[in-house]
Amino acid sequence: MKTVFITGATAGFGEACAYVFAQNGYRLILNGRRTERLESLKENLEKEYNTSCYLLPFDVQNRGDVLSVINSLPEEWKAIDVLINNAGLALGRDSFNEANIDDWDTMIDTNVKGLLYVSKAVVPFMTARKKGHIINLGSVAAKDIYDKGNVYCASKAAVDAISKAMRIELLPHGIKVTAIHPGAAETEFSLVRFKGDEDTANKIYDGFTPLSAADVAAIIFYTTTLPGHVCINDLVVTCTQQANSIYFNKDGKQG
Ligand SMILES: NC(=O)c1ccc[n+]([C@@H]2O[C@H](COP(=O)([O-])OP(=O)(O)OC[C@H]3O[C@@H](n4cnc5c(N)ncnc54)[C@H](OP(=O)(O)O)[C@@H]3O)[C@@H](O)[C@H]2O)c1
Repeated sequence: MKTVFITGATAGFGEACAYVFAQNGYRLILNGRRTERLESLKENLEKEYNTSCYLLPFDVQNRGDVLSVINSLPEEWKAIDVLINNAGLALGRDSFNEANIDDWDTMIDTNVKGLLYVSKAVVPFMTARKKGHIINLGSVAAKDIYDKGNVYCASKAAVDAISKAMRIELLPHGIKVTAIHPGAAETEFSLVRFKGDEDTANKIYDGFTPLSAADVAAIIFYTTTLPGHVCINDLVVTCTQQANSIYFNKDGKQG
């Protein structure tokens, strides 16, 4: 049975990936900070599918925890076939003058440093087996910088660069690296970004039909189904009413 390790599995893309991979015969290592959500996800997945889940609740920002917890995985769970570096967030949408520096720190510590720490711990398991697939969640925000997106865009541009670097460095080890760059998707992302302000969060999706978490999870899973000699390096996906991180057609919801 193949093993997938998903960071940020308590909501959004990560949770949707957990269902898709479980449906397709994977067993799962699931991370996130909200332990209760992880426990109920494990219960549901194990009940619904013929799979097993190993929970690793930690904050990806905490370097010590990330390295020690991943290294303490039982040997049989270290055979990780797919790592999905998904945990991430935007906090605030403010100009440089107005932005909160703590928000900047959290975005960089989670989206960039967290992804590096998890990868640093998992890559040795993959190089030892001479196989594996790392999937990093970037964003269209990495490709086109938008107004007041400053540090979030920068953190995702870093994910883009790190993915390219991994692809080069892991080439001799037979490890695939795929960066997925979604556009607007309706998850808890905007609620987190606007710190629980539901009205502002919901307005983000006014006038168009965004991607769903399930849309993105299906594409992530697809990248793992290709033959061994084929690797998608970089994939940008938006809903049909979005051209890039700036241009939308907000003429009304589709479908
Ligand atoms: N939704 C979009 O429009 C969109 C577009 C492009 C890219 N993305 C990227 O896609 C990824 C997933 O976003 P989403 O839309 O699914 O958002 P979401 O619904 O808010 O889910 C984010 C997940 O990340 C986890 N997480 C956040 N900080 C963490 C930390 N310090 N340690 C461990 N886990 C942490 C959260 O779990 P806990 O809170 O339980 O820790 C949650 O499971 C992010 O990297 C995001 O930047 C999103």
